[in-house]
Amino acid sequence: MKIAISTGGGDAPGLNAVIRGVVLAAAHRGWECLGIRHGYDGLMGLDKVVPMGPAEVRGITHLGGTILGTTSRGNPFHWKETKGDGTVVEHDRSKDVVAEAKRLGIDAIVAIGGDGSLGIAMQLYRMGIPIVGVPKTIDNDVGGTVATFGFDTAVQTATEAIDKVHSTAESHDRVMVVEVMGRHAGFIALNSGLAGSADVILIPEIPFDIRKVVEKIRAREAEGRHFSIVVVAEGARPKGGGVSLIDPEHHRLGGIGDKVAHSIEEMTGKETRSMVLGHLQRGGSPTTFDRLLSLRFGAAAVRLIAEKKFGYMVALQPPDIVAVAIEEAIAKPRHVPLDSDVIATARDLGISLGD
Ligand code: F6P
Repeated sequence: MKIAISTGGGDAPGLNAVIRGVVLAAAHRGWECLGIRHGYDGLMGLDKVVPMGPAEVRGITHLGGTILGTTSRGNPFHWKETKGDGTVVEHDRSKDVVAEAKRLGIDAIVAIGGDGSLGIAMQLYRMGIPIVGVPKTIDNDVGGTVATFGFDTAVQTATEAIDKVHSTAESHDRVMVVEVMGRHAGFIALNSGLAGSADVILIPEIPFDIRKVVEKIRAREAEGRHFSIVVVAEGARPKGGGVSLIDPEHHRLGGIGDKVAHSIEEMTGKETRSMVLGHLQRGGSPTTFDRLLSLRFGAAAVRLIAEKKFGYMVALQPPDIVAVAIEEAIAKPRHVPLDSDVIATARDLGISLGD
C-alpha cells in the first residue's frame, strides 16, 4: 500500500501533528507514504513528492505550519498561469494530477483541508482517486465535526492578545477594537471574546447595529468604566450591509475592525483604536488539545484507508472520531448556533452582540 498526504489551502496549527499521525500509522502497517509538496503542486510538475517515514516526522508534533508547504492558489481545476505579459490564464489541470498519482502508484490520498481543499478532494475522488479527508481550519466552520484542528490554538492566541489589549485600553481610557479571523463563522470571536472578557462581540451570524454597540460603550462610561474592548470577526457585517473586503477581486475580507472603530469614535467622541490579529492566529505551536486532535485525526484517516472508506473524512463527535461523508460535511458548513449556551452565556454576562 502506498499513500500520499496533501496539505493544501490555508495552514492551521496542528498540520504537522496530523502528518505525523498519518505517517506513523502507515508505517505501523508497513505501508509506504509520500508527501505532496505545496498542495497538489507536487503532482503537477511544479514541485515534488517526497518520501515520508518515521525519520521525516520526528519531533514535529509541536511545530506550527506544515513541513510539506502549502498554497491557497493551487486548485488544479482552476490552475492559474501567469503569462510573460502579466495576463493570467486559467487551466483545468486535474487530469494531470490524476495521471501523476497513477504513475507514482499512489493507492490513496489523505487530503487535509478546509471547505475549499475538501471540495477539491471531493472532485478528485469523483475522478477516481481514492481520498480520505481531515478537516482543517482555524475558523472551525467545517460541517460534521464538533471541531477542526487549529481552532483551539487560534482561540488561545486571540484570547492572549485581548488580555494584553485590556491593560493599554484601561490606562488610556480608550476603546480598542480587535479584528479576528472568521469568514463565515464567529467561533473565534465568540470564544476568545468571552474568555478575554470583551464588552462587545460581533460575529457573522448576528448582523450588528452600530447604535447598539455605542449604547454598550456609553453604559460602561456611565458606570465609570472608561474603556471598552470590542472583538469583531472579519466576516461580521452591519444589518442591511455587506462584508468588508480589502481585495474584492479575490474576495479577501478585512477592514471591518477599522470601520467599527471609526464609527465608535465618531459617535462617542472617545479615542478608539483598532488592530487586526490576522495570520498571527494561524501560526505558532498547537495547544495540547490541537496536538491530540491532530494525531487522532491522522491515525484515524489511515484506519479509514484500511477500511477502504473513501470519500469520507474523519470527524470529532465526542468522545469518538467518526467517519463523515465529505460531500455531506461541505454541504452543511458550521455556524455558531444562535441558541447555543455560549451565546446565552455572553448575553447573561452583559456582553453586547450588537443586536
Ligand atoms: O479559512 C481560514 C482563514 O484563516 C480565514 O479566516 C481567512 O479569511 C483566510 O483563512 C485567510 O487566508 P489567506 O490569507 O491565506 O488567503
